Amino acid sequence: MGIRNKGRDWRFQWSMVMIAAAALVAYNAVANLWLLHPASCPIPPTIPPTEPPTCEPCFGKVSSAGADYDPIYTLDLRLGRWDGSRSYKIFDNVAVGELYSEMSTNYHVCLATQSSIERLHELLRIAAHWTGPISVAVFVAGDEMRLLRAFTTWLYKCQPEIYSRLALHIIMPAEKPGYNDGSLPKWARDCDVIPLPHEERKAETVAWRARHPYPQNHMRNLARKNTHTSYVFLVDIDIVPSTGMAEALNQFLDSSPKCPLCAYVVPTYELDRRVAKFPANKSELVRLSRSKLAIPFHRKVFIYNQFASNFSRWEASGGNESELTHISHNVTNFELLYEPFYLASDTVPAHDERFLGYGFTRNSQVYEMFLIGYQFKVLSPIFTIHWGIQTRRNRPLWREKQNENNRKHFETFKKELFARYRKDPLHLLKRPQQAKKT
Ligand SMILES: *[C@@H]1O[C@H](CO)[C@@H](O)[C@H](O)[C@H]1NC(C)=O
Ligand SMILES: *[C@@H]1O[C@H](CO)[C@@H](O)[C@H](O)[C@H]1NC(C)=O
Ligand SMILES: *[C@@H]1O[C@H](CO)[C@@H](O)[C@H](O)[C@H]1NC(C)=O
Ligand SMILES: *[C@@H]1O[C@H](CO)[C@@H](O)[C@H](O)[C@H]1NC(C)=O
Repeated sequence: MGIRNKGRDWRFQWSMVMIAAAALVAYNAVANLWLLHPASCPIPPTIPPTEPPTCEPCFGKVSSAGADYDPIYTLDLRLGRWDGSRSYKIFDNVAVGELYSEMSTNYHVCLATQSSIERLHELLRIAAHWTGPISVAVFVAGDEMRLLRAFTTWLYKCQPEIYSRLALHIIMPAEKPGYNDGSLPKWARDCDVIPLPHEERKAETVAWRARHPYPQNHMRNLARKNTHTSYVFLVDIDIVPSTGMAEALNQFLDSSPKCPLCAYVVPTYELDRRVAKFPANKSELVRLSRSKLAIPFHRKVFIYNQFASNFSRWEASGGNESELTHISHNVTNFELLYEPFYLASDTVPAHDERFLGYGFTRNSQVYEMFLIGYQFKVLSPIFTIHWGIQTRRNRPLWREKQNENNRKHFETFKKELFARYRKDPLHLLKRPQQAKKT
């Protein structure tokens, strides 16, 4: 560009500045008139004063009745942040209820969970018992994005109390990204149904999902990292807390000394489907356990899963509704395959995202906590329930395959942990890990 042109540019820019300044003065004058008008609400400076004054949306409030609420629709799916392997894209806080942040300051514990579209409706059972904040990560591929949008709209409209306490996050596979087109299905606005969004998926999405592992540990980390309370209670979507647990834990943690290396275990039982009602209290659960209608989680599938929690000791330690939540006992016989549901500060190690699908996803993380020196303490009389007793024969072949891949990865993982912590209390380095029968 020549010197003459530069001079012309300069003059041009200067006149633009003058025009902008004049416009700003005029704008301020008009804006002041608007602000002095008694009925108007504060107008953000970016709205030109020629537009009609409006209180929708006013800050700190979500719009109500009638209008569709569809926050996921506006997501720019080309954005998001990548996981370490650049195989998944992560979207934090795509839909957040109006009370989530406030509750995160009033409660000590946020419940963190994760789900695929197929099981998302199970969130309603958790939320019916857990009255505190909930952080939930959802896996979405292909046209599942539209169904998640619809589910979110339904929650907002039909379960506003539950919605208000939620923060929802998304993980989407790079290979089969979610897409957002199409209008919402009818049920998104129908409060007479409990939606089962997955029933409407395209066959190609279902087929893709069946061939690819569900990234459990990515999902767990995402849900965990978006909690804002001092403690996190991480559960799977089908694990239902006993009633009043959030308040009981507030009270317990208020009266407990600070313990940075404590993990508080909440015992989990499987409940026979013939039992019609969720046990109202521990005495009721112990009664069901005596009649074999409730059994420790995974006892039939994989006994070591919760064995170290020592259920017989927990059951014998009494406890009823009128008792405050307290530590029943310490876990003394830690073993490698132990994977309790616990609450702890979110400074606990992350879930290793190289484990994909089933097998070693949770116990590897719990094992690292054990190496660091965490003490697991079993709480009473609170508990969690898995609805339905699981048996080994309903485990499909693909699940065994994922388990086998993860077992191989565990060989590397345990050596890495040894290099980091220089401890091998369970003598894992002497022998290869057996396949986990889950
Ligand atoms: C369970 O507790 C009892 C004492 O109540 C103890 O004898 C037993 O060894 C414990 N079992 C485990 C697995 O910790
Ligand atoms: C429940 O626990 C409280 C406190 O330990 C005790 O006073 C009460 O008798 C217990 N009630 C029952 C029904 O066991
Ligand atoms: C526990 O729940 C059962 C069933 O609702 C009830 O009958 C019983 O009184 C409760 N027990 C205590 C100690 O609260
Ligand atoms: C549990 O372990 C802690 C150490 O973390 C110890 O101080 C406490 O006495 C133990 N409690 C019981 C009941 O053994």
